Amino acid sequence: MSILPIRRDIRFSLAAERISDWHPRGQVTTQFINTLSLFFPVGERFFIQAVRHYRDQVSDPELQKAMTAFIGQEAMHGREHEEYNDLMQQAGLPAVALENRVKALLERIKAVAPPSTQLAITIALEHYTALLADWVLSVDAVTRDTEPGYQALWRWHSLEETEHKAVAYDVWNAVMKDRPRAYAERAAVQLIATGLFMALVSVYTVRMVRADRKARGLKQWRSLAGFLVGREGFLRRSFRPWLDYFKPGFHPWQHDNRHFLAEIEDFVRGQQALSAAA
Ligand SMILES: [Fe+2]
Ligand SMILES: [Fe+2]
Repeated sequence: MSILPIRRDIRFSLAAERISDWHPRGQVTTQFINTLSLFFPVGERFFIQAVRHYRDQVSDPELQKAMTAFIGQEAMHGREHEEYNDLMQQAGLPAVALENRVKALLERIKAVAPPSTQLAITIALEHYTALLADWVLSVDAVTRDTEPGYQALWRWHSLEETEHKAVAYDVWNAVMKDRPRAYAERAAVQLIATGLFMALVSVYTVRMVRADRKARGLKQWRSLAGFLVGREGFLRRSFRPWLDYFKPGFHPWQHDNRHFLAEIEDFVRGQQALSAAA
């Protein structure tokens, strides 16, 4: 099954004064989600380069088109998350310092890892974004009663991550299919990427919370813990689908959530009308 993503140029207006408390679960949960945003502009640039490297090695014209759309979508996500991250910096949060650390890490990886490993990192992290997107779109409590601008941005990003979730993976299959160590590389990189990503998100969330004087108290941390490991929490809900990645015949659309894609065009029209009226 193949789905052709579409690049959509839309903009969001985020309420600057709500940057640290746009989520009803409080500041710690807000800063946790804000921390995820710090990874996107530099991370998505890395994904774009990893996929673009293989452009000439893909002969399927449909996959070529999907690669172009993937690059376009990730570029738009990066642009909107950059604006989001600027608001954090303006509010006194260490967004630039933390983003620079992610950037330095990715630059080091680019300097030493071959293109196939860079693509393996891309598909590993695209699996993560697909799981996060499915959580955002499926579990009402994740975005319920959140400030509308932030909610719209995370919904849009989740819809498009779902739409293009198989593109980098299809490139991997197309260019790596005859290599005997393809599975071992894909699986090993997922384990390392998971450990590293979780460690960085944890450390950076603590840094962000420390910089936010209102984000204090055990109660708020408990609320974040419930958000992640509670009945519909991300970690609990995503563990099995994360494990599926290690099946030799895994493909992202085996988790078939394409029904969400039916709402994209209406969502985009609504968003465009909103920004035209602003
Ligand atoms: Fe993205
Ligand atoms: Fe993506």
